[in-house]
Amino acid sequence: MILYYTAGQKTKVFAHALHDVLRQPMQELKSPLNEKSFFIFRALYLAVTGKGYPVSNMPEKIDGKEIYLCSPVWGGNVAGPAWYFLNNANLEGVKVNLLLTCGSVTGSERYRKKALESLQLAGCEPGDIYVFATGKGVPEHSVIVEQLREMLPPNVIG
Ligand SMILES: Cc1cc2nc3c(=O)[nH]c(=O)nc-3n(C[C@H](O)[C@H](O)[C@H](O)COP(=O)(O)O)c2cc1C
Repeated sequence: MILYYTAGQKTKVFAHALHDVLRQPMQELKSPLNEKSFFIFRALYLAVTGKGYPVSNMPEKIDGKEIYLCSPVWGGNVAGPAWYFLNNANLEGVKVNLLLTCGSVTGSERYRKKALESLQLAGCEPGDIYVFATGKGVPEHSVIVEQLREMLPPNVIG
């Protein structure tokens, strides 16, 4: 199962490419944050204070033993709504892989390390973590699909 949160639609492009590669069901995690104005200021405040932000459509149950959670990086870590999902979903016995998108082209390793710590802090079983920089733009869907096909373990490709 693929879950994604997006604020500015960039992570959505990656989630859709992942969906094409894995051929697994996909759900967008929605947050009331996206419906409000002054988004950037609210988001920064919530990221910096670590408050996170609720998801309004939490999945009732997680299918399978492995999920892929796609999220932008906010303040060096997974975005507030993704953090909320990690802390509130029943992920017992579920391996959590992450696909992160970030603005910085040099921050990938730092964000990967931080995200791994966050998965452990939330009590999740960490899987693979993929980080894509979007600061210079988002590649075409087909380019991302090719990149993912090369990065993902062959046994998960659908
Ligand atoms: C509140 C906020 C905080 C962010 N913090 C970071 C950051 O710490 N490092 C970084 O490289 N990019 C940061 N970014 C940029 C986003 O991670 C990047 O643009 C991402 O691809 C956006 O995905 P989206 O369009 O799906 O929301 C931040 C963006 C926002 C809105």
